[in-house]
Amino acid sequence: MNTARSPLAASASGADLLLWVAVPYICLAVFAVGHVWRYRQDQFGWTSRTTQLLEHRWLRWGSPLFHLGAFMVIAGHVVGLAIPDSWTEAVGITEHAYHTTAVWAGSVAGVAMVAGLGMLCARRLLTRRIRLGTDRSDKFLFPLLSATVLLGITATAAHNVFGAGYDYRSTVSVWFRGLFVLQPHPEAIAGAPLLFQLHALTAFLLFAAWPFTRLVHVWSAPIGYLARPYLVYRRRTAAVAAPTAGGRTRSASGSRRAA
Ligand code: HEM
Repeated sequence: MNTARSPLAASASGADLLLWVAVPYICLAVFAVGHVWRYRQDQFGWTSRTTQLLEHRWLRWGSPLFHLGAFMVIAGHVVGLAIPDSWTEAVGITEHAYHTTAVWAGSVAGVAMVAGLGMLCARRLLTRRIRLGTDRSDKFLFPLLSATVLLGITATAAHNVFGAGYDYRSTVSVWFRGLFVLQPHPEAIAGAPLLFQLHALTAFLLFAAWPFTRLVHVWSAPIGYLARPYLVYRRRTAAVAAPTAGGRTRSASGSRRAA
């Protein structure tokens, strides 16, 4: 363990080792083994289990808002957690510029994610047919996902939007990267504000739950869908099909990419 970094040099207690080393590694192990198990047991259930046919008004807004926010939040986390501040400074991004962008972009992304998730939860609670189709994994996933997202945005708001500012890149990020290079630094997060600690813990619990929930659909995002050939459909009255420039057949009535 590298104890040369002075602010992080304090030795970790047993509780710190449990919370910031054992729990994350157990969760990551469950994440990895769980995916293999799920793939072998339940390939046909490896979907988002969409409820689009049961309700689409809330879904039409909630789903894009949540997913767009999530993509932005993931991008922000990659930069903020995985990339050391010395690297961003080396390419000319000052600490001030990083934090200003992170707070603005993170807040927009976080609000989109919270609003979208709120709509997805609301339709699940308020639409009887969806409520009846909500299984045990959903009942665990939705509260855990909501807790993680709400703790994340509350930490950002409390410390970096309305508060004096907290440099999580020299603590939380150091701990996070240490786990993946097998040089854990529990002491790096042990002194972080409670909201950041709770956010990180719920995130790791979410990683452990991931393979047993509908979140597995993330790994089978339908990217090929964007490039797949059109499905041709014709109305009975206009069955004449005209070839298009790309060699695809486009009917007089229309053509769509179908799910
Ligand atoms: C162990 C993994 C994670 C760590 C260490 C972590 C850490 C952080 C930190 C340090 C912030 C504050 C960013 C800032 O103030 O600029 C934050 C914000 C946030 N996090 Fe996480 N996070 C993790 C996983 C997740 C996951 C899995 C989700 C969503 C499911 C999530 C959702 C959010 C949201 C919505 C925000 C507020 C918006 C933002 O600032 O990007 N985080 N997280």
